[in-house]
Amino acid sequence: MSDPLTPYGNRPMVTPIVHAVNYEYRDFEVLRQITDGEIDGYTYHRDDNPTVRTVEKKIAEMEMAEDCILCTSGMAACTMVFLTYLKSGDNLVLFHDIYGANYKVSLILERLGVDVTWLDADQSPELAKHLKPNTTMIFLESPTNPLCKTVDIAAARLAADKVGAMLVVDNTFATPLHQNPLKLGARLVIHSATKALGGHNDLMAGAIAGSKEDYDRLWFTRQAVGSTLDAYSASLLERGLKTFVLREERMASNAMMVAEFLSGHGKVSRLRYPGLESDPGHKVARRQMHGGFGGMLAFDVGDDIEDAKKFISSLKLVYHAVSLGCTESLVCIPFLTTMLYLPPERRTIFGVRKNTVRLSVGVEKAEDIIEDLRQALDGLK
Ligand SMILES: Cc1ncc(COP(=O)(O)O)c(C=O)c1O
Repeated sequence: MSDPLTPYGNRPMVTPIVHAVNYEYRDFEVLRQITDGEIDGYTYHRDDNPTVRTVEKKIAEMEMAEDCILCTSGMAACTMVFLTYLKSGDNLVLFHDIYGANYKVSLILERLGVDVTWLDADQSPELAKHLKPNTTMIFLESPTNPLCKTVDIAAARLAADKVGAMLVVDNTFATPLHQNPLKLGARLVIHSATKALGGHNDLMAGAIAGSKEDYDRLWFTRQAVGSTLDAYSASLLERGLKTFVLREERMASNAMMVAEFLSGHGKVSRLRYPGLESDPGHKVARRQMHGGFGGMLAFDVGDDIEDAKKFISSLKLVYHAVSLGCTESLVCIPFLTTMLYLPPERRTIFGVRKNTVRLSVGVEKAEDIIEDLRQALDGLK
């Protein structure tokens, strides 16, 4: 597809927000050419939108993909991938260490006849052992949500090849600045663009990048189920992308400094940040990530959930909120928030504890974030 905005003549610096749901057909021949894919053109928003299409092309470039498809949220992106490639009787391998709402989707998939295997990210080195002849998809995150564990993507691809399964990587935590899963062997890469790509807590979007052929298959699903992103959110996302590298570089360098501070504090234990040499995933992270290790950290505070709550309630700069990858630093207790969708025993089965907190480091001055964390931690008895 050529520049989606070509019909407007000189290209505007900011992509216009095309609100139109439908488009006038100039004549039947143009309609035929559009629907036969001979020329670029638009007919109905559920099919395509020029504002959305422009942003898709930018994200495809960032992930070094042939194309990218945008949809209404990160979870819509995950669900579109499952619905497009899985059928009854297939085995899907999921990791406990993925965003909690995928558990709910897995229940729907099971109802539709998909067999789901759950693994812990710590079991990923033995992934091949857990694959079945009917395993058709392996879906992983690295670093994982919320514990920030590292999964070796290239090794997962080798395991997947043994049974001919496709590898899908949710790259939301790493972002395209630090990791490009397609280059490491993934067939598709997913983003909750709600997070660092958008970056300002003001839009929801999901992105799936891959080959042109995969774009076409996913487009079929999106057009069928109606999960096309709206043009206004696409425009906000385009604006976010303009500062993405600046923000992400700052978040990653801040996170490194925050991790170094936290690693020396007596009220912090089980600190996970792939950038720390002491982190069990550091070696693999160094191999598959570049230009930093992202802005996400996980750690246990004090002895119990009351300590974690007191710590969070004492913070003055860092916000107590879910979501991640945005300008402000955010902290939450996954057990009480992002993992609430899971039955309590499943929330802790892979290492999350009630006093585990997840920190998304923002773009504030590193010393201000550290000072805030210090005063809140020092306040614990
Ligand atoms: C790693 C990851 N993937 C997917 C999602 C879902 O994204 P959204 O909230 O945009 O649906 C999230 C949300 O936090 C996430 O952290």
